[in-house]
Amino acid sequence: MATWLKSNRIQKLGGGVLERTGLALWSRLQLAGLGAHKDPAVVKMLRQIHRERRSLMSAFELFNVYGVARAQARRPGAFAEVGVYRGASAKLLCEVKGDKPLHLFDTFEGLPPATEHDRGVHRPGEFACSLDAVRAYLDGYENVHFHKGVFPESAVDVPEMSYAFAHFDVDLYEGTLACLEYFYPRMIPGGIILSHDYDLLAGVNKAFSEFFADKPEAIIEAPTTQCLVVKLAAA
Ligand SMILES: C[S@@+](CC[C@H](N)C(=O)[O-])C[C@H]1O[C@@H](n2cnc3c(N)ncnc32)[C@H](O)[C@@H]1O
Repeated sequence: MATWLKSNRIQKLGGGVLERTGLALWSRLQLAGLGAHKDPAVVKMLRQIHRERRSLMSAFELFNVYGVARAQARRPGAFAEVGVYRGASAKLLCEVKGDKPLHLFDTFEGLPPATEHDRGVHRPGEFACSLDAVRAYLDGYENVHFHKGVFPESAVDVPEMSYAFAHFDVDLYEGTLACLEYFYPRMIPGGIILSHDYDLLAGVNKAFSEFFADKPEAIIEAPTTQCLVVKLAAA
């Protein structure tokens, strides 16, 4: 585990103060920066999503979701997201996925119980939101499938398929590990896993470190809190 993650002060920032108070201002600054050199239509879309939906992701983080999704939309395989909350990052996936299937997993009743690996940062039920409200927000996009319940149990009835892009934003050790165990073997060669909070939340970091300890793929850290992994072809 990274040494800075041993600090509980950083953990608390990740779970509370930073996300709730600083993020809006931070994202506004980031959007101004993105506006200087990115496609104005994309920046407009990010601004709109920020206005419409309280997101726990910064503008740069949403941009990374957009960038990976846009690249992977050209590859075979479905898209998935675990950790939808009010649908901000899911809306981005919808905007770029074309006619690909998008599978969205969330309890829609907030976080499940944490373990000792999560350092008490979050409480059960935090980030509860209404499935109907998210459905309404994403109404009009084709081939979007909602799976309510605790992942991975909520995936039991999902037909077998390959994925080009899996986005995780579940905040907790057990959920992140379950996402990796489920999606890693189902990713296409060149498929991309992107996770929020990799270097902010100890549980997320631990799940990735443990899972990839015996895998050939490297965990690539972004300058945001995110990390990504590109699935290699089987040797
Ligand atoms: C930080 S929020 C996701 C934020 C969202 N990506 C956005 O764009 O604002 C975390 C979400 O993960 C969900 N979650 C966490 N663990 C889960 C699990 N094991 N199964 C299903 N949903 C889970 C919670 O219900 C919550 O809505």
